[in-house]
Amino acid sequence: MSNYHIKNLEEYFQVYRKSVRNPTHFWEEIAEENFLWRKSWDSVMTWDKAKSKVTWFEGAQLNITENCIDRHLISKGNQTAILFEPNSTDEPAQHITYHQLHERVNQMANVLKAKGVQKGDRVCIYLPMIPELAIALLACARIGAIHSVVFAGFSSTALASRINDSDCKLVITSDGSYRGSKTIDLKGIVDEALSNCACVEKVLVVKRIHTEIPMQAGRDEWIQPLLDEASMVCAPTIMEAEDPLFILYTSGSTGKPKGMVHTTAGYMVNSAYTFKNVFQYRNNDVYWCTADIGWITGHSYIVYGPLANGATTIMFEGVPTYPDCGRFWEIIAKHKVTQFYTAPTAIRALAKESLDMVNKHDLSSLKVIGSVGEPINEEAWHWYNDNIGKGKSPLVDTWWQTETGAIMISPIPFATPTIPTYATLPLPGIQPALMGDNEDELIGNQVEGKLCIKHPWPSMARTIWNNHKRYQETYFSAYKDMYFTGDGALRNSVGFYRITGRVDDVIIVSGHNLGTAPIEDAINEHPAIAESAIVGFPHDIKGSALYGYISLKNTGESRSHENLKIEINQLITERIGPIAKLDKIQFTEALPKTRSGKIMRRILRKIAAGEFDQLGDISTLLNPEVVKSIIKNVV
Ligand code: PRX
Repeated sequence: MSNYHIKNLEEYFQVYRKSVRNPTHFWEEIAEENFLWRKSWDSVMTWDKAKSKVTWFEGAQLNITENCIDRHLISKGNQTAILFEPNSTDEPAQHITYHQLHERVNQMANVLKAKGVQKGDRVCIYLPMIPELAIALLACARIGAIHSVVFAGFSSTALASRINDSDCKLVITSDGSYRGSKTIDLKGIVDEALSNCACVEKVLVVKRIHTEIPMQAGRDEWIQPLLDEASMVCAPTIMEAEDPLFILYTSGSTGKPKGMVHTTAGYMVNSAYTFKNVFQYRNNDVYWCTADIGWITGHSYIVYGPLANGATTIMFEGVPTYPDCGRFWEIIAKHKVTQFYTAPTAIRALAKESLDMVNKHDLSSLKVIGSVGEPINEEAWHWYNDNIGKGKSPLVDTWWQTETGAIMISPIPFATPTIPTYATLPLPGIQPALMGDNEDELIGNQVEGKLCIKHPWPSMARTIWNNHKRYQETYFSAYKDMYFTGDGALRNSVGFYRITGRVDDVIIVSGHNLGTAPIEDAINEHPAIAESAIVGFPHDIKGSALYGYISLKNTGESRSHENLKIEINQLITERIGPIAKLDKIQFTEALPKTRSGKIMRRILRKIAAGEFDQLGDISTLLNPEVVKSIIKNVV
């Protein structure tokens, strides 16, 4: 399998050089040799720069579920495909073999068909981390429906806006979910959302927590009886390479969330290739990514990437701290996990606990450990590397985005040396560029700038659902013929990359991307509030947390600031979800503004970080005196 599985540094450089010389040939070889195609492509890649339109493998036909399931049936039919570890330690783990997965995906696909779902229709999936979630994705893909998974921590308002944006006709949800010692009423959230979604015709409900819930006649149905009746045979719908596979929403720096559209063939090739290399997956390994399938990490590295490689992939329903904060390490020991992939925020939280919680579990099965979603600080990197990787399992700090579909910059274990806080080197096929303030590319090493990608890669999102103009403006207008990531990065003296963080108004809280605009919109709905500005500030566990500067209307507000704070966070929880709650709230008579009326967030960020001596020149502000009073009352 040439190029597909890189084993050492020399091979990496060879493959990388080849991939840059001729990217299309590089990806074509990988696609040809490692996947099942119903028809081959007419062109490997097209790139209409003026329209920001990219295609990969156009003309090819395939079904991704044949690649993720059917083709493994002969050699791996009885191997575990999905290993489900429930929230409660009293409930046994479930091993779903490739055979069983095939049957269950086909059954669910047949149920969707019977409910009128056709190729190209959008299906919203709002489920906890239970096997039906992965099965629902694959069932959609089996029949060519476009799945739109919404993370089951989002509120009813956030869910409704996503359902409406992509005009979903069916929703798959559950009666509720377990989260540590709590349960969450998911169906209630769906009911509330659907009171504002005329497009939804049917709701299929998985029974998970066995609570009494209202079912709306004609709209809602329990899914299990339908599955029991459904045939286990469902011929895969043959898809065009560029047919959409899924939509996944991500926050932008302004406006409503963007429905990133990923297409079939390129996404499959790229997610599978990167899974194989970044995790060095071998037969019989047990791979575990702790993300939720509601995020891109779960799509690419719990479902599609691992299954395309015939891997065993763990789905964990619970939280790292339940029943105690040794749960992750206990699961690694229990299932002899070989690759473990998590987020810095989880590492920082668990590093605060006694090391006994780690050391009482046997972690000797581990071969590779990974990090994703936000910059990993030096302290967390060392703790993870030393105590979990034991200095022998390479720590891969993987940089990528919802938009990129697959890992872009990451060490390859046993090939690339790892350095604390560095994502290190681009994977083959990926050409990063650092841009300076004058829109020029910074050449050579020891430079820091804005991170762009020069040449299209197969798993890049092709558009924003129903809004190609916004796609072009967001990603392809800042620099000519380059994809702009929104991140800053530096390249050190030997050419290794370190991601320094967002350079726009997206804030990453506990690994979740949050745009400031929707949070401010939610706050500004409060009748007592005139204006608000949200910025991030450094936080021990979350990486960044949210600081809100709020100015009140001059209407003689009688509520106390303490009550207002509670109401503000309630509004945010209702409109977006608890992940967007503010950690700190400061009331101020006004916000610092430029003469053209723009809020000076740069200054507010510095104040929130306590860097009062780094505010720069404030004399050009419309209202410089406000800055002093904000500093005086900083929270
Ligand atoms: O700022 C980068 C950060 O997360 C952003 C992408 O977030 P999202 O689309 O939700 O995808 C997260 C999972 C891939 C990026 O623009 N980010 C992601 N990985 C890293 C990172 N920042 C630093 N180091 C990383 N390894």
